[in-house]
Amino acid sequence: MMEKTARAAEQATEKGLQRCIDPACGAIYGLRERIYVCSRCAGTLEIDLSLAALQNSGAMRKLWAARAASRDPRNVSGVWRYRELLPFNEPVPFVTLFEGNTPLYHGPRSAQYCGLDDLRLKHQGCNPTGSFKDTGMTAAVTQAVVLGARTVVCASTGNTAASLAAYAGRAGLQAAVLLPKGQITAGKLAQSLDYGALVCEIDGNFDDCMRLIQELGDDPSIYVANSINPFRIEGQKTVAFEMMEQCLWQVPDHVVVPGGNMGNSTALGKGFQELLDLGLISRVPKLSVIQAEGSAPVARLFASLDPREWADGERLPDTMAPVEKPRTLATAIKIGAPVSWKKGLRAVLRSGGKVIAVSEQEIADAKAMIGRDGIGCEPASAATVAGMKKLVAAGHIRRDDSVIGVLTGHMLKDPDYVSHYHRGTLSIDSSAKDGSVTPQRIAGAFRNAPESVAATKAAILESLKRRR
Ligand code: F0G
Repeated sequence: MMEKTARAAEQATEKGLQRCIDPACGAIYGLRERIYVCSRCAGTLEIDLSLAALQNSGAMRKLWAARAASRDPRNVSGVWRYRELLPFNEPVPFVTLFEGNTPLYHGPRSAQYCGLDDLRLKHQGCNPTGSFKDTGMTAAVTQAVVLGARTVVCASTGNTAASLAAYAGRAGLQAAVLLPKGQITAGKLAQSLDYGALVCEIDGNFDDCMRLIQELGDDPSIYVANSINPFRIEGQKTVAFEMMEQCLWQVPDHVVVPGGNMGNSTALGKGFQELLDLGLISRVPKLSVIQAEGSAPVARLFASLDPREWADGERLPDTMAPVEKPRTLATAIKIGAPVSWKKGLRAVLRSGGKVIAVSEQEIADAKAMIGRDGIGCEPASAATVAGMKKLVAAGHIRRDDSVIGVLTGHMLKDPDYVSHYHRGTLSIDSSAKDGSVTPQRIAGAFRNAPESVAATKAAILESLKRRR
């Protein structure tokens, strides 16, 4: 009884609660309960903020704009600047590396490649550890501090691990990261090592690492920082706020993101929905998610749904068939059983967007095209532009629509891929039915191989002339 009263009192002073997303369950939990999935039905949780207290949208826009010029560390962070919409009470022991504040570029060559008049690219790879994960990790590690956890853990395809390692380092917490052995790019692995995390190379794939994390989450000294953790989503949703400020509150027609675990799509969908609920925007953009063909369980499910039946996202399929052996050179999204598929799919359906898959060749060429715009991203990020090209061709995106693609990671996360593409040596192993494995070459349509040039001015000028 005492415990119940204490919990009720705690909930009354908090800015919201955690809620199971399954409408048939709808169980609620306090914000300070250390819980990652619903303890009643094992469903996914999300944070439900009490937005009613924040109805003056004009004042909020002004407040956020004024903070952009302030030197208060809470305002320098492009996440904590929006703290009214974060589930923490002041004073917050916030752990920051000054994440967010990422550029929104025009990409004229990428636009032309997709068949669009204009295309903007929000480069989340310009975060402190080079990926969008930082915007969520600042919130999750702060929550770990609030809860008094000593150790933070995650499973990762590389970027989440790098980010968690860095934020745990800032907070003085121990970090352990579970990585599929031999499947992480050298750059990402180097980051986790350098930031001092315990790096566990697991003999298995990402989905095996994720299963282990779910077991570790039972240990009371451990805090799980995967995107199943709803506090990660809270930090990541701020990209929608920052994007809208950069667009001067003109809502784009489409926002396109790559999809792995579906945390990013979940977060963007939530961010836009909150802005709509607060009256800060009048509609939400269509949110589309792009997966790599060999790791596309959500795209496969989406293709099987009758849009008339599922259009509003109020009801969701109960199950999704995982991909047993996910395959793609875009290692960041090499995931066969995405943990946040329901929340991500719901966001897409509610907005009127789509989930589709693109081939290795399409990803590789789109990446090179983004590079020609002077913007370096990692392969997974380029799935966005590859997907947009397909969505334009299919008539889902019109030539004159306003479109923003989210680039999730920096090019230097995976320079080997880039080098192989431009030298013409990029390939992916392909297994035949008899179990034999052969490399399948990915020919680069926009190759830019280095040249051996004699050490003379004339030879260099000659090479330049040939390229004009
Ligand atoms: N792009 C990059 C660069 C990523 O690192 C990830 C996910 C995604 C896209 C997909 O985002 O999972 O939210 O749908 N990387 C995770 C990791 C899985 O462990 O770093 P999602």
